[in-house]
Amino acid sequence: MATRVRVSAKVNGEAVEFLCDPRQSLLECLRDILNLTGTKEGCNDGNCGACSVLLNGRLVNSCLVLGAEIEGQEVTTVEGLAKSGELHPLQQAFLDNAAVQCGYCTPGMLMASKALLDRNPDPTEEEIRFWLAGNLCRCTGYDKIVRAVKDAATRVRQQDLTAEGSET
Ligand code: FES
Ligand code: FES
Repeated sequence: MATRVRVSAKVNGEAVEFLCDPRQSLLECLRDILNLTGTKEGCNDGNCGACSVLLNGRLVNSCLVLGAEIEGQEVTTVEGLAKSGELHPLQQAFLDNAAVQCGYCTPGMLMASKALLDRNPDPTEEEIRFWLAGNLCRCTGYDKIVRAVKDAATRVRQQDLTAEGSET
């Protein structure tokens, strides 16, 4: 049996420490060691986007990252989106626009969309489709997902304006 490695990192804002096999993927570590099962396994080879998470704010397929590689890094999973019991605007917009059917792709879609809105708060439809090209959905036909991301972008911008207003 391979020697296990100790990993210290921050996941969803919390310090975590765990032991893993050096060959275990971040996806396996999240799901099987940290019990963060929101992140889904689809293809396990970098093609479907179901396992998308943010690593230091950058969108990655967690099936292609080793758990040991997150030593000292910050990971955000779908469990880290809601704050103080309130859904993230993206989660609410996905619900309101019926952008979820079986839901298997949804955590990955949400994380990819979050990475997009963090970089581009007002994306065009084309930009959304381009950005989400690495996330596959078998159910929705994508239109509702694109609408939901557009809607969420408006909500996030409004939230930011309100927050700015209350600071002045
Ligand atoms: S499970 Fe990672 S990209 Fe499909
Ligand atoms: S909602 Fe079923 S795969 Fe996307």
